[in-house]
Amino acid sequence: MQLSQIVSKMNISYAEDGLRFILHQSDSRLVKGWTMQKTNLRLASTQTLNRFALQREHETISKRNRTSQIGPLESGLISETYSMGKEKRVGRERAVSRGKSRSGLTVWFTGLSGAGKTTICRYVQMELATRDIEVEVLDGDVIRKHLCKDLGFSEADRKENIRRIAHVAKLLTHHGKIVLVAAISPYRSSREEARSIVGNFIEVYVNAPLAVCEQRDPKGLYHKARIGMIHGFTGIDDPYEAPESADVECLTGVESPKESCDKVMAAVLQFLNRQSK
Ligand code: ADX
Repeated sequence: MQLSQIVSKMNISYAEDGLRFILHQSDSRLVKGWTMQKTNLRLASTQTLNRFALQREHETISKRNRTSQIGPLESGLISETYSMGKEKRVGRERAVSRGKSRSGLTVWFTGLSGAGKTTICRYVQMELATRDIEVEVLDGDVIRKHLCKDLGFSEADRKENIRRIAHVAKLLTHHGKIVLVAAISPYRSSREEARSIVGNFIEVYVNAPLAVCEQRDPKGLYHKARIGMIHGFTGIDDPYEAPESADVECLTGVESPKESCDKVMAAVLQFLNRQSK
C-alpha cells in the first residue's frame, strides 16, 4: 500500500502538550505514536502537504490541555525538522508565527544583480511558510517601484534606498515578523547601518561571480550596461563592496537554490532557537 493511502486512513491527535502527534486509524485505534510518526515523516518526504498538518496543529494550540481528535491527516507530510521533537524551537517558531514574540528577525540578502537574491528569498519564504511562520519580503526591484520611486542609482540614492528599507524592516522586525530583504546594497557602510537600525539581523552574501551574473542576465541589464545604454551599473561601472564576514554566504554559481536556502534556514532556525531559551 502507498504511504499516502496509509496516512489518509489515519486521524491525527495531539498529546496534551500540543506538540506531539499521534496517528490513529479511523476507528481511533492507536497505531503507533512517535516512532511511527517519524517513520512516516521520513518516508513521506516526497509528499507536499506539510501545511495541512501544521495548520491543524496550530488550531490545537487554542485547545491546549486537552487531547483533541482532529480530522483525517489526508496524504500529508509533517516537516522533518518540525518532527524532531525540539519543543522549545517549535514553541518559538509558533510564537513568531502568531506575532507574539518580542521581536522578529531581518534576513538581509546582498549581492550583485542576477546573483540569486530573490530566488533564495522565495525558497526561504516557502520553507518558513511550511512552518506557519509569517514572512514579509522587501525586494529592491519592488521597493523601487513604490517606496523609493524617487530614487536613482547614485551612491547617495542607493544609500537612501537602503536606509528606507532598513527602517521598514525594523518596524516589521520589532513586531515579531521575519523579514527577508533582497537588495544589492552595494555599500558595506550602508549594510552596517541597516544592521544597527534593525537589531536582529542576519547578513546573507549571495555570492556569484560577475561573469555568472552577466551570463544569466535575467533582465538584459548587463548587456545594456556593456553597450553603454545604461551607466553606473553595479559590477560593471559601479562598485560592489563584498561583505568581509557575512553571517551566511551562498555560492550560487555552484550551489543549487535549495542548498543555499538550507544554509539560510540553518541560521534562521539557530536564531529562533536562541531566542526561545
Ligand atoms: S541598490 O543598489 O539600491 O541596493 P536595488 O537592489 O534596490 O539596488 O535595485 C537593484 C535593481 O535595480 C536591479 O536588480 C536592477 O533590476 C535594477 N537596476 C537598474 N539600474 C541599475 C543600476 N544602475 N545598478 C544596479 N541595478 C540597477
